[in-house]
Amino acid sequence: ELTEIIKLDATDSTNLYLKNLMVSSTLKDYTTVVTKVQKKGRGQMGTKWESEEGKNLTFSVLKHFDALKVAHQFHLNIVVSLVLHTVLTDMNIPNVKVKWPNDIMSGSKKICGILIENVLNGSLVKKSIIGIGLNVNQVSFGNLDKASSLALVSGRTFDLDYILNLILEKMKSFLDKTEQISLTSLKTQYEALLFRKDQVSTFKEENGQLFFGIIRGVSEEGKLIVELENDTIKQYSLKEVSLQF
Ligand code: BTN
Repeated sequence: ELTEIIKLDATDSTNLYLKNLMVSSTLKDYTTVVTKVQKKGRGQMGTKWESEEGKNLTFSVLKHFDALKVAHQFHLNIVVSLVLHTVLTDMNIPNVKVKWPNDIMSGSKKICGILIENVLNGSLVKKSIIGIGLNVNQVSFGNLDKASSLALVSGRTFDLDYILNLILEKMKSFLDKTEQISLTSLKTQYEALLFRKDQVSTFKEENGQLFFGIIRGVSEEGKLIVELENDTIKQYSLKEVSLQF
């Protein structure tokens, strides 16, 4: 079965485009919207996602679920992170890691951001819009010194459609199994790929306060498990903490 890929020259945000399209039509799983440029690309926690026109992949993918509990929605972050990790590692991108919750890093640089927006019905996730911004051929990032691209970390240039297809293929094979795979096994795989795991790192609390800690893993709900200086273990949600790197 072929995936429906809607190719646009420009839109505000592919997540938003797919969300609106969903209202007016019945869409199959893995319907994908990809655009050359976004006018209002969105990132996590209300941030902006900027991407040079025609250089990178900015796309969103639709997936329906039957019995995915809201309490288990972090599964999805894990699976999508594993998909990107697998594809990029297969492409020989060096030292690919996942910065919690789901930024994809190469070494100490961020090369990909993921924004998953879920449509809920009671305690279930019915649909997910999986938005991915993968920096591919862009080579200058202005003053964003932590941002990079596949081209910059590998010295090669890439065909965007080729990478998009690799990602969609892996998404199908991994996501079709999401509801079957045990969380324990997903969590173990994910924790093995965590950026700065078992290293002393600096974190920032909501109020701006900095502290030291060591990432030890994630909880089933997707909280970050951090060991603090006095040997206590604390769990943080995305709103409560950010990793400074
Ligand atoms: C982040 O790192 O904060 C997440 C960035 C997600 C960006 C992608 S680009 C395609 C999709 N459409 C959006 O507006 N955002 C996501």
